[in-house]
Amino acid sequence: MTTNTQLETTLEYAQTLDAQDPLAHMRRHFGIPKQENGQNEYYFTGNSLGLQPKLARDYVIEMLDAWQQRGVKGHFEGDYPWMPYHEFLTEQSAELVGALPEEVVMMNSLTANLHLMMVSFYQPVGKRTKILIEDHAFPSDHYAVESQLKHHQQNVADNMMLWKPRIDSAGVSEELLNHDDLYQIIEEQGDEIALILLPGVQYYTGQVLDMKTITAKAQAKGIKVGFDLAHAAGNLEMHLHDWQVDFACWCSYKYLNSGAGSVAGCFVHQKNASNTELNRFAGWWGHDKATRFKMENNFKPIPTAEGWQLSNPPVLSLAAIRGSLDTIKIAGGISELRKKSLKLSQYMMDLIALELKDSIRVITPTNDHERGCQLSLMVTVEGLDGKAMFNALEANGVTTDWREPNVIRVAPVPLYNSYQDVFHFVRILKECLA
Ligand SMILES: Cc1ncc(COP(=O)(O)O)c(C=O)c1O
Repeated sequence: MTTNTQLETTLEYAQTLDAQDPLAHMRRHFGIPKQENGQNEYYFTGNSLGLQPKLARDYVIEMLDAWQQRGVKGHFEGDYPWMPYHEFLTEQSAELVGALPEEVVMMNSLTANLHLMMVSFYQPVGKRTKILIEDHAFPSDHYAVESQLKHHQQNVADNMMLWKPRIDSAGVSEELLNHDDLYQIIEEQGDEIALILLPGVQYYTGQVLDMKTITAKAQAKGIKVGFDLAHAAGNLEMHLHDWQVDFACWCSYKYLNSGAGSVAGCFVHQKNASNTELNRFAGWWGHDKATRFKMENNFKPIPTAEGWQLSNPPVLSLAAIRGSLDTIKIAGGISELRKKSLKLSQYMMDLIALELKDSIRVITPTNDHERGCQLSLMVTVEGLDGKAMFNALEANGVTTDWREPNVIRVAPVPLYNSYQDVFHFVRILKECLA
Protein backbone atom coordinates (compact mmCIF):
# COMPACT_ATOMS: atom_id res chain seq x y z
CA MET A 1 0.00 0.00 0.00
CA THR A 2 1.28 3.47 -0.83
CA THR A 3 2.72 5.83 1.75
CA ASN A 4 1.48 8.80 -0.24
CA THR A 5 -1.12 9.88 2.30
CA GLN A 6 -2.60 12.56 0.08
CA LEU A 7 -3.46 9.93 -2.47
CA GLU A 8 -4.57 7.39 0.11
CA THR A 9 -7.44 9.53 1.35
CA THR A 10 -9.02 9.95 -2.09
CA LEU A 11 -11.91 8.08 -3.66
CA GLU A 12 -9.71 7.45 -6.70
CA TYR A 13 -7.32 5.48 -4.56
CA ALA A 14 -10.15 3.30 -3.22
CA GLN A 15 -11.31 2.75 -6.80
CA THR A 16 -7.80 1.65 -7.76
CA LEU A 17 -7.74 -0.83 -4.90
CA ASP A 18 -11.10 -2.22 -6.00
CA ALA A 19 -9.87 -2.52 -9.57
CA GLN A 20 -6.90 -4.56 -8.34
CA ASP A 21 -8.97 -6.72 -5.97
CA PRO A 22 -9.18 -10.35 -7.18
CA LEU A 23 -12.34 -10.83 -5.07
CA ALA A 24 -14.18 -7.71 -6.25
CA HIS A 25 -16.48 -9.88 -8.40
CA MET A 26 -17.81 -11.70 -5.30
CA ARG A 27 -20.04 -8.77 -4.35
CA ARG A 28 -22.30 -9.67 -7.28
CA HIS A 29 -23.10 -12.97 -5.57
CA PHE A 30 -24.90 -11.17 -2.71
CA GLY A 31 -28.04 -9.15 -2.19
CA ILE A 32 -27.05 -5.75 -0.78
CA PRO A 33 -29.74 -4.03 1.35
CA LYS A 34 -30.96 -0.69 0.06
CA GLN A 35 -31.33 2.65 1.79
CA GLU A 36 -34.66 4.48 1.59
CA ASN A 37 -33.25 6.57 -1.29
CA GLY A 38 -32.69 3.38 -3.29
CA GLN A 39 -28.90 3.40 -3.00
CA ASN A 40 -27.03 0.45 -1.57
CA GLU A 41 -26.40 0.55 2.16
CA TYR A 42 -22.82 0.62 3.31
CA TYR A 43 -23.18 -2.66 5.15
CA PHE A 44 -20.55 -3.41 7.80
CA THR A 45 -22.43 -5.84 9.99
CA GLY A 46 -21.25 -9.20 8.72
CA ASN A 47 -20.00 -9.82 12.27
CA SER A 48 -23.64 -9.92 13.35
CA LEU A 49 -25.64 -11.07 10.33
CA GLY A 50 -23.95 -11.77 7.01
CA LEU A 51 -25.64 -10.76 3.77
CA GLN A 52 -27.65 -13.17 1.67
CA PRO A 53 -25.71 -15.11 -0.98
CA LYS A 54 -27.77 -15.51 -4.14
CA LEU A 55 -26.94 -19.21 -4.11
CA ALA A 56 -28.43 -19.55 -0.62
CA ARG A 57 -31.70 -18.19 -1.96
CA ASP A 58 -31.56 -20.50 -5.01
CA TYR A 59 -30.86 -23.59 -2.93
CA VAL A 60 -33.60 -22.82 -0.40
CA ILE A 61 -36.09 -22.37 -3.23
CA GLU A 62 -34.89 -25.68 -4.70
CA MET A 63 -35.67 -27.33 -1.37
CA LEU A 64 -39.11 -25.73 -1.18
CA ASP A 65 -39.82 -27.01 -4.69
CA ALA A 66 -38.58 -30.49 -3.80
CA TRP A 67 -40.86 -30.54 -0.77
CA GLN A 68 -43.82 -29.35 -2.86
CA GLN A 69 -43.16 -31.86 -5.65
CA ARG A 70 -41.97 -34.91 -3.75
CA GLY A 71 -43.43 -34.77 -0.26
CA VAL A 72 -41.87 -37.38 1.98
CA LYS A 73 -39.96 -38.92 -0.93
CA GLY A 74 -37.70 -35.87 -0.84
CA HIS A 75 -35.83 -37.61 1.96
CA PHE A 76 -34.40 -40.05 -0.56
CA GLU A 77 -34.91 -38.58 -4.03
CA GLY A 78 -33.27 -35.86 -6.10
CA ASP A 79 -29.69 -34.63 -6.31
CA TYR A 80 -29.73 -33.46 -2.72
CA PRO A 81 -31.96 -35.81 -0.72
CA TRP A 82 -32.75 -34.60 2.80
CA MET A 83 -31.76 -37.72 4.65
CA PRO A 84 -28.00 -37.19 4.18
CA TYR A 85 -28.31 -33.44 3.50
CA HIS A 86 -26.01 -32.38 6.36
CA GLU A 87 -23.29 -34.53 4.79
CA PHE A 88 -23.21 -32.26 1.73
CA LEU A 89 -21.87 -29.53 4.02
CA THR A 90 -19.21 -31.50 5.80
CA GLU A 91 -16.19 -31.27 3.57
CA GLN A 92 -16.35 -27.52 3.03
CA SER A 93 -17.17 -26.84 6.68
CA ALA A 94 -14.18 -28.94 7.72
CA GLU A 95 -11.92 -27.00 5.36
CA LEU A 96 -13.10 -23.73 6.85
CA VAL A 97 -11.93 -24.60 10.35
CA GLY A 98 -8.98 -26.83 9.49
CA ALA A 99 -10.58 -30.11 10.46
CA LEU A 100 -10.96 -33.63 9.14
CA PRO A 101 -14.41 -34.28 7.67
CA GLU A 102 -15.26 -36.73 10.45
CA GLU A 103 -14.60 -34.01 13.02
CA VAL A 104 -17.32 -31.64 11.81
CA VAL A 105 -21.09 -31.60 11.78
CA MET A 106 -23.68 -28.88 11.18
CA MET A 107 -26.46 -29.24 13.78
CA ASN A 108 -28.63 -27.36 16.26
CA SER A 109 -27.67 -23.84 17.30
CA LEU A 110 -24.50 -22.44 18.83
CA THR A 111 -25.51 -22.31 22.49
CA ALA A 112 -27.23 -25.70 22.26
CA ASN A 113 -24.01 -27.17 20.85
CA LEU A 114 -21.94 -25.56 23.61
CA HIS A 115 -24.15 -27.34 26.11
CA LEU A 116 -23.85 -30.68 24.30
CA MET A 117 -20.08 -30.29 24.22
CA MET A 118 -19.89 -29.43 27.90
CA VAL A 119 -21.93 -32.52 28.71
CA SER A 120 -19.08 -34.49 27.16
CA PHE A 121 -16.07 -32.35 28.06
CA TYR A 122 -16.88 -30.95 31.47
CA GLN A 123 -16.53 -33.78 33.94
CA PRO A 124 -15.65 -32.39 37.38
CA VAL A 125 -13.58 -34.93 39.28
CA GLY A 126 -11.73 -34.54 42.60
CA LYS A 127 -10.25 -31.06 42.83
CA ARG A 128 -10.46 -30.53 39.05
CA THR A 129 -13.87 -28.86 39.02
CA LYS A 130 -13.43 -25.40 37.51
CA ILE A 131 -14.34 -23.92 34.16
CA LEU A 132 -12.30 -20.95 32.94
CA ILE A 133 -13.87 -18.40 30.62
CA GLU A 134 -13.04 -14.79 29.89
CA ASP A 135 -14.49 -12.03 31.98
CA HIS A 136 -16.38 -10.45 29.09
CA ALA A 137 -17.58 -13.69 27.49
CA PHE A 138 -20.69 -13.40 25.34
CA PRO A 139 -23.60 -13.64 27.82
CA SER A 140 -24.94 -16.85 26.30
CA ASP A 141 -21.60 -18.58 26.92
CA HIS A 142 -21.51 -17.20 30.46
CA TYR A 143 -25.02 -18.47 31.18
CA ALA A 144 -24.30 -21.84 29.59
CA VAL A 145 -21.20 -22.34 31.75
CA GLU A 146 -22.98 -21.16 34.88
CA SER A 147 -25.85 -23.57 34.28
CA GLN A 148 -23.49 -26.47 33.56
CA LEU A 149 -21.76 -25.85 36.89
CA LYS A 150 -25.13 -25.84 38.63
CA HIS A 151 -26.16 -28.98 36.75
CA HIS A 152 -23.13 -30.70 38.30
CA GLN A 153 -23.92 -29.25 41.75
CA GLN A 154 -20.77 -27.12 41.64
CA ASN A 155 -20.75 -23.81 43.42
CA VAL A 156 -20.58 -21.15 40.70
CA ALA A 157 -18.62 -18.55 42.69
CA ASP A 158 -15.88 -21.08 43.46
CA ASN A 159 -15.79 -22.83 40.11
CA MET A 160 -16.27 -20.21 37.41
CA MET A 161 -12.85 -18.69 36.79
CA LEU A 162 -12.67 -15.44 34.86
CA TRP A 163 -9.67 -14.39 32.79
CA LYS A 164 -9.77 -10.59 33.06
CA PRO A 165 -7.94 -7.78 31.29
CA ARG A 166 -5.28 -6.09 33.42
CA ILE A 167 -5.95 -3.01 35.51
CA ASP A 168 -3.60 -0.21 34.46
CA SER A 169 -1.62 2.09 36.75
CA ALA A 170 -4.55 4.54 36.88
CA GLY A 171 -6.82 1.77 38.16
CA VAL A 172 -8.66 1.46 34.84
CA SER A 173 -9.32 -1.90 33.23
CA GLU A 174 -7.52 -2.44 29.94
CA GLU A 175 -9.69 -3.54 27.03
CA LEU A 176 -7.65 -6.43 25.69
CA LEU A 177 -6.88 -9.77 27.26
CA ASN A 178 -3.23 -10.47 28.01
CA HIS A 179 -2.26 -14.04 27.12
CA ASP A 180 0.55 -14.08 29.71
CA ASP A 181 -2.04 -13.69 32.45
CA LEU A 182 -3.91 -16.73 31.16
CA TYR A 183 -0.73 -18.78 30.92
CA GLN A 184 0.09 -17.87 34.50
CA ILE A 185 -3.36 -18.99 35.69
CA ILE A 186 -2.90 -22.26 33.80
CA GLU A 187 0.55 -22.75 35.28
CA GLU A 188 -0.47 -21.99 38.85
CA GLN A 189 -4.01 -23.36 39.05
CA GLY A 190 -4.19 -25.71 36.08
CA ASP A 191 -4.81 -28.83 38.13
CA GLU A 192 -8.07 -27.35 39.41
CA ILE A 193 -9.38 -26.50 35.95
CA ALA A 194 -11.46 -29.09 34.09
CA LEU A 195 -12.32 -27.00 31.04
CA ILE A 196 -11.26 -23.80 29.31
CA LEU A 197 -13.90 -22.31 27.02
CA LEU A 198 -12.81 -19.23 25.11
CA PRO A 199 -13.74 -17.35 21.96
CA GLY A 200 -11.58 -17.52 18.84
CA VAL A 201 -12.33 -13.81 18.37
CA GLN A 202 -13.59 -11.73 21.30
CA TYR A 203 -16.96 -10.33 20.24
CA TYR A 204 -16.58 -6.84 21.76
CA THR A 205 -12.97 -5.94 21.01
CA GLY A 206 -12.38 -8.10 17.92
CA GLN A 207 -9.20 -9.48 19.56
CA VAL A 208 -8.09 -12.83 18.09
CA LEU A 209 -6.89 -15.29 20.72
CA ASP A 210 -3.92 -17.58 20.19
CA MET A 211 -5.93 -20.80 20.05
CA LYS A 212 -2.92 -22.96 19.24
CA THR A 213 -0.78 -21.93 22.22
CA ILE A 214 -3.70 -21.79 24.64
CA THR A 215 -4.66 -25.35 23.68
CA ALA A 216 -1.10 -26.66 24.03
CA LYS A 217 -0.49 -25.03 27.40
CA ALA A 218 -3.85 -26.05 28.84
CA GLN A 219 -3.71 -29.63 27.62
CA ALA A 220 -0.20 -30.00 29.06
CA LYS A 221 -1.92 -29.45 32.41
CA GLY A 222 -4.66 -31.98 31.66
CA ILE A 223 -7.33 -29.39 30.86
CA LYS A 224 -9.93 -29.84 28.10
CA VAL A 225 -10.13 -26.93 25.67
CA GLY A 226 -13.09 -25.72 23.63
CA PHE A 227 -13.62 -22.60 21.53
CA ASP A 228 -16.65 -20.55 20.62
CA LEU A 229 -15.89 -19.64 17.01
CA ALA A 230 -18.97 -17.47 16.40
CA HIS A 231 -16.73 -14.60 15.30
CA ALA A 232 -13.94 -16.72 13.86
CA ALA A 233 -15.65 -19.14 11.43
CA GLY A 234 -15.53 -17.73 7.90
CA ASN A 235 -13.26 -14.98 9.21
CA LEU A 236 -9.93 -16.55 10.21
CA GLU A 237 -7.86 -19.42 8.92
CA MET A 238 -7.77 -22.11 11.59
CA HIS A 239 -6.22 -25.54 12.09
CA LEU A 240 -8.38 -27.08 14.78
CA HIS A 241 -7.25 -30.62 14.05
CA ASP A 242 -3.53 -29.87 14.13
CA TRP A 243 -3.93 -27.64 17.18
CA GLN A 244 -5.55 -30.61 18.97
CA VAL A 245 -8.52 -28.50 20.12
CA ASP A 246 -10.98 -30.76 21.97
CA PHE A 247 -14.14 -29.17 20.60
CA ALA A 248 -15.43 -25.99 18.99
CA CYS A 249 -18.82 -24.53 18.11
CA TRP A 250 -19.84 -21.76 15.76
CA CYS A 251 -22.93 -20.17 14.32
CA SER A 252 -23.49 -19.83 10.57
CA TYR A 253 -25.29 -16.49 10.40
CA LYS A 254 -22.31 -14.13 10.79
CA TYR A 255 -19.38 -14.61 8.42
CA LEU A 256 -21.02 -17.76 7.06
CA ASN A 257 -23.94 -15.80 5.65
CA SER A 258 -26.59 -18.48 6.13
CA GLY A 259 -29.44 -16.45 7.57
CA ALA A 260 -30.68 -15.50 11.03
CA GLY A 261 -30.66 -18.42 13.47
CA SER A 262 -29.41 -20.84 10.84
CA VAL A 263 -27.99 -24.22 11.87
CA ALA A 264 -24.66 -24.12 13.70
CA GLY A 265 -21.35 -25.94 13.34
CA CYS A 266 -19.62 -28.25 15.75
CA PHE A 267 -16.10 -29.68 15.79
CA VAL A 268 -15.11 -32.67 17.91
CA HIS A 269 -11.47 -33.70 17.56
CA GLN A 270 -11.01 -37.15 16.08
CA LYS A 271 -9.30 -38.37 19.27
CA ASN A 272 -12.56 -37.61 21.12
CA ALA A 273 -15.11 -38.27 18.38
CA SER A 274 -13.91 -41.82 17.90
CA ASN A 275 -14.48 -42.54 21.60
CA THR A 276 -18.06 -43.81 21.64
CA GLU A 277 -17.86 -44.21 25.43
CA LEU A 278 -17.76 -40.45 25.95
CA ASN A 279 -20.68 -39.24 28.03
CA ARG A 280 -23.23 -37.40 25.88
CA PHE A 281 -26.85 -36.42 25.53
CA ALA A 282 -28.14 -38.65 22.76
CA GLY A 283 -30.77 -38.53 20.04
CA TRP A 284 -31.66 -40.81 17.15
CA TRP A 285 -29.74 -38.80 14.53
CA GLY A 286 -26.49 -39.54 16.38
CA HIS A 287 -27.16 -43.28 16.20
CA ASP A 288 -25.38 -45.62 13.77
CA LYS A 289 -26.83 -44.92 10.32
CA ALA A 290 -26.95 -48.58 9.33
CA THR A 291 -29.40 -49.45 12.12
CA ARG A 292 -31.11 -46.11 12.83
CA PHE A 293 -34.38 -47.16 11.29
CA LYS A 294 -34.55 -50.54 13.03
CA MET A 295 -35.98 -48.56 15.95
CA GLU A 296 -34.33 -50.87 18.47
CA ASN A 297 -33.61 -48.49 21.36
CA ASN A 298 -30.03 -49.58 21.67
CA PHE A 299 -28.02 -46.39 21.20
CA LYS A 300 -24.83 -46.88 19.22
CA PRO A 301 -23.18 -43.49 18.57
CA ILE A 302 -21.68 -42.74 15.16
CA PRO A 303 -17.92 -42.62 15.89
CA THR A 304 -17.54 -39.13 14.38
CA ALA A 305 -18.77 -35.64 15.26
CA GLU A 306 -22.12 -36.79 13.82
CA GLY A 307 -22.51 -38.94 16.92
CA TRP A 308 -23.59 -35.79 18.82
CA GLN A 309 -26.54 -35.07 16.52
CA LEU A 310 -29.93 -35.21 18.18
CA SER A 311 -32.60 -34.61 15.57
CA ASN A 312 -33.10 -34.74 11.86
CA PRO A 313 -31.95 -31.27 10.83
CA PRO A 314 -33.93 -28.43 9.21
CA VAL A 315 -33.07 -28.78 5.52
CA LEU A 316 -34.17 -25.27 4.56
CA SER A 317 -31.47 -23.92 6.81
CA LEU A 318 -28.93 -26.47 5.60
CA ALA A 319 -29.71 -25.46 2.02
CA ALA A 320 -28.85 -21.84 2.85
CA ILE A 321 -25.57 -23.01 4.38
CA ARG A 322 -24.78 -25.03 1.27
CA GLY A 323 -25.37 -21.91 -0.84
CA SER A 324 -23.06 -19.94 1.40
CA LEU A 325 -20.32 -22.58 1.38
CA ASP A 326 -20.49 -22.81 -2.42
CA THR A 327 -20.17 -19.04 -2.58
CA ILE A 328 -17.04 -19.15 -0.43
CA LYS A 329 -15.72 -21.86 -2.74
CA ILE A 330 -16.18 -19.58 -5.76
CA ALA A 331 -14.02 -17.03 -3.93
CA GLY A 332 -11.26 -19.64 -3.56
CA GLY A 333 -11.82 -20.54 0.09
CA ILE A 334 -10.96 -19.07 3.44
CA SER A 335 -7.29 -18.34 2.67
CA GLU A 336 -8.32 -15.98 -0.15
CA LEU A 337 -10.91 -14.31 2.08
CA ARG A 338 -8.37 -13.82 4.84
CA LYS A 339 -5.83 -12.23 2.47
CA LYS A 340 -8.34 -9.63 1.35
CA SER A 341 -9.75 -9.17 4.84
CA LEU A 342 -6.36 -8.15 6.22
CA LYS A 343 -5.89 -5.60 3.44
CA LEU A 344 -9.41 -4.23 3.80
CA SER A 345 -9.22 -3.78 7.58
CA GLN A 346 -5.69 -2.35 7.27
CA TYR A 347 -7.03 0.18 4.76
CA MET A 348 -9.80 1.12 7.18
CA MET A 349 -7.33 1.53 10.04
CA ASP A 350 -5.02 3.62 7.86
CA LEU A 351 -7.85 5.92 6.79
CA ILE A 352 -9.05 6.31 10.38
CA ALA A 353 -5.49 7.12 11.46
CA LEU A 354 -5.13 9.71 8.71
CA GLU A 355 -8.57 11.28 8.94
CA LEU A 356 -9.95 10.73 12.42
CA LYS A 357 -7.10 10.13 14.79
CA ASP A 358 -8.30 12.77 17.27
CA SER A 359 -11.85 11.47 17.44
CA ILE A 360 -11.79 7.70 16.99
CA ARG A 361 -9.76 5.04 18.76
CA VAL A 362 -9.57 1.51 17.37
CA ILE A 363 -9.46 -0.85 20.36
CA THR A 364 -8.95 -3.97 18.24
CA PRO A 365 -5.29 -5.02 18.14
CA THR A 366 -3.58 -3.77 15.00
CA ASN A 367 -1.31 -6.80 14.40
CA ASP A 368 -2.44 -9.03 11.56
CA HIS A 369 -2.46 -12.15 13.75
CA GLU A 370 -4.58 -10.52 16.45
CA ARG A 371 -7.43 -9.13 14.37
CA GLY A 372 -10.07 -10.53 12.03
CA CYS A 373 -12.60 -8.60 9.95
CA GLN A 374 -14.04 -6.63 12.84
CA LEU A 375 -12.67 -3.34 14.10
CA SER A 376 -14.14 -2.00 17.34
CA LEU A 377 -14.20 1.77 17.46
CA MET A 378 -14.57 4.15 20.38
CA VAL A 379 -15.50 7.78 19.98
CA THR A 380 -12.97 9.79 21.97
CA VAL A 381 -14.37 13.30 21.52
CA GLU A 382 -15.19 14.73 24.90
CA GLY A 383 -18.95 15.12 25.41
CA LEU A 384 -19.80 13.16 22.29
CA ASP A 385 -21.81 10.01 22.82
CA GLY A 386 -20.74 6.94 20.83
CA LYS A 387 -24.33 5.75 20.54
CA ALA A 388 -25.33 9.10 18.98
CA MET A 389 -22.56 8.64 16.43
CA PHE A 390 -23.77 5.12 15.67
CA ASN A 391 -27.29 6.52 15.10
CA ALA A 392 -25.91 9.25 12.85
CA LEU A 393 -24.10 6.65 10.75
CA GLU A 394 -27.32 4.67 10.43
CA ALA A 395 -29.22 7.78 9.31
CA ASN A 396 -26.60 8.23 6.60
CA GLY A 397 -26.88 4.77 5.10
CA VAL A 398 -24.05 3.09 7.06
CA THR A 399 -24.99 -0.07 8.92
CA THR A 400 -22.66 -0.88 11.80
CA ASP A 401 -23.53 -2.29 15.18
CA TRP A 402 -23.51 -0.87 18.64
CA ARG A 403 -22.41 -2.85 21.63
CA GLU A 404 -22.91 -1.58 25.15
CA PRO A 405 -21.23 0.06 26.87
CA ASN A 406 -19.20 1.98 24.36
CA VAL A 407 -18.26 0.40 21.06
CA ILE A 408 -19.23 0.71 17.40
CA ARG A 409 -18.33 -2.57 15.72
CA VAL A 410 -17.49 -2.34 12.04
CA ALA A 411 -16.71 -5.39 9.95
CA PRO A 412 -15.49 -4.93 6.40
CA VAL A 413 -16.18 -8.36 4.94
CA PRO A 414 -14.01 -9.54 2.03
CA LEU A 415 -16.85 -11.35 0.25
CA TYR A 416 -19.05 -8.32 -0.31
CA ASN A 417 -17.42 -5.14 1.00
CA SER A 418 -15.34 -3.01 -1.31
CA TYR A 419 -12.53 -0.57 -0.67
CA GLN A 420 -14.94 2.13 -1.79
CA ASP A 421 -17.35 1.04 0.97
CA VAL A 422 -14.55 1.58 3.45
CA PHE A 423 -13.71 4.95 1.93
CA HIS A 424 -17.33 6.08 2.21
CA PHE A 425 -17.61 4.75 5.77
CA VAL A 426 -14.70 6.92 6.90
CA ARG A 427 -15.95 9.90 4.88
CA ILE A 428 -19.45 9.68 6.40
CA LEU A 429 -18.07 9.11 9.91
CA LYS A 430 -15.91 12.20 9.48
CA GLU A 431 -18.91 14.23 8.31
CA CYS A 432 -21.01 12.98 11.24
CA LEU A 433 -18.26 13.88 13.70
CA ALA A 434 -18.04 17.35 12.20
C1 LIG B 1 -19.69 -15.16 20.74
C2 LIG B 1 -21.11 -15.60 20.70
N1 LIG B 1 -21.47 -16.68 21.44
C3 LIG B 1 -22.75 -17.11 21.46
C4 LIG B 1 -23.73 -16.47 20.74
C5 LIG B 1 -25.15 -16.98 20.84
O1 LIG B 1 -25.51 -17.57 19.65
P1 LIG B 1 -26.88 -18.41 19.46
O2 LIG B 1 -28.00 -17.48 19.77
O3 LIG B 1 -26.85 -18.75 18.02
O4 LIG B 1 -26.82 -19.58 20.37
C6 LIG B 1 -23.40 -15.36 19.96
C7 LIG B 1 -24.42 -14.66 19.17
O5 LIG B 1 -24.21 -13.69 18.51
C8 LIG B 1 -22.05 -14.91 19.95
O6 LIG B 1 -21.68 -13.84 19.24
